[in-house]
Amino acid sequence: MRNKKKKRIALIGSTGSIGTQCLQVVDSLPEKFEVVGITAMTNFKLLAKQIMKYKPKYVCISPEKRADLERELKESLFKANFEYAEISDIVRREDIDLVVVGVPGFASCEPVFNAVRAGKEIAVASKEAILCLGKMLFEEAEKKKAKILPVDSEHSSLWKLIDSYPRENIKKVYITASGGPFWKHDKSKIENAPYEEVIKHPVWNMGVKITVDSALLINKAFEIIEASYLFAIPPEKIGVKIHPEAIVHSAIELKDGTFIMSAHFPDMRIPIMYAMLYPYVEDIPFEIPSIWEKPLNFFEPDFERFPSLLLGWRCAKLQEPFPCILVSADEVAVEYFISRKIRFWDIYTIVEKTVSYFEKNRKELPSSITSIEDVKKIYEISKKKAKEIADLLVEKT
Ligand SMILES: NC(=O)c1ccc[n+]([C@@H]2O[C@H](COP(=O)([O-])OP(=O)(O)OC[C@H]3O[C@@H](n4cnc5c(N)ncnc54)[C@H](OP(=O)(O)O)[C@@H]3O)[C@@H](O)[C@H]2O)c1
Repeated sequence: MRNKKKKRIALIGSTGSIGTQCLQVVDSLPEKFEVVGITAMTNFKLLAKQIMKYKPKYVCISPEKRADLERELKESLFKANFEYAEISDIVRREDIDLVVVGVPGFASCEPVFNAVRAGKEIAVASKEAILCLGKMLFEEAEKKKAKILPVDSEHSSLWKLIDSYPRENIKKVYITASGGPFWKHDKSKIENAPYEEVIKHPVWNMGVKITVDSALLINKAFEIIEASYLFAIPPEKIGVKIHPEAIVHSAIELKDGTFIMSAHFPDMRIPIMYAMLYPYVEDIPFEIPSIWEKPLNFFEPDFERFPSLLLGWRCAKLQEPFPCILVSADEVAVEYFISRKIRFWDIYTIVEKTVSYFEKNRKELPSSITSIEDVKKIYEISKKKAKEIADLLVEKT
């Protein structure tokens, strides 16, 4: 019989960096969680191991990989007893209490939106869903009494601070950025940074897409917008500081001149566990190094070398549909960079040009966003434009 105290989880993106760390939290607190659904795209080997260990009821993998997954399970003599289901369907099932979403890019939108419409608790690592769905997501969450729980370390720590002080006493909020591998490099070196250096993040071990975004600081632009939506804070009241040690993740400035900082060792299991257990807090069940030995440094961001950061405030102020355009254009540009078609700096060029194009040609996009279909249209139209811009750039070089 199911232990009633256990939260029943659907983990979307179980084979990724967020997904595997979420499962480590489950392993550390087995009396708290039950894994009911897991999903991956192509990594059938790891998914098979997870199926054998957690025995979920629902599984999703891309149709082309099903045969591989089944062969893998058969070779391990595992008697599979699960149902294949679409991700968007799994997140709505009645026997799911908490949905954890750790899928990169636009693909995260539908799972997050469907989970919200089903009134679930949703731990959202996928900031792209928050940016693309925007206000509509939060209005729907309010209607359906769904809870959107941030997983990004900056937003998780900000959530703890913001909830502890009256809003009228908070003058400004800050999120930090480690600065990625290039925060001390010359602009010319950043412009031509090779792929192998771009994907070597000095602090975090993450998926490829977010690692590339972090090196350019466009990930921080996403996070400015994410904070603005999650906590209903105007973009001009959100600051960014470079903090290479990545111990302090956020701060709030009170109107009396006090700064309150939120710090923890840079281990994603801490914010993941906070969202998964919410509203309860448990003793940390794994070893975490001390934060006290290192000096803590803070610097102002340099917008000359990291202009992508400015796109965060710009798109947050422009509001819908610009955060979605930012996500869409960045997805195209990062794909071109990963396939070695463009230079590292060209990611910024493509994204900035796409945003500028739609600032002048707003009429080419749906005039209002009232459904996920509207969001899809915006995503597709801006993706097409970003591809045109990227192809022109490739032709010229
Ligand atoms: N990693 C971090 O520390 C971190 C921190 C903060 C926020 N985030 C955010 O969390 C999200 C996930 O990041 P990650 O680093 O965990 O990514 P990741 O390591 O690349 O993992 C992505 C997961 O999603 C699956 N997936 C990929 N594309 C998919 C698609 N189109 N449809 C369905 N499933 C798909 C992958 O399956 P396969 O393995 O089969 O490909 C994998 O399970 C991103 O939005 C990122 O910005 C991550």
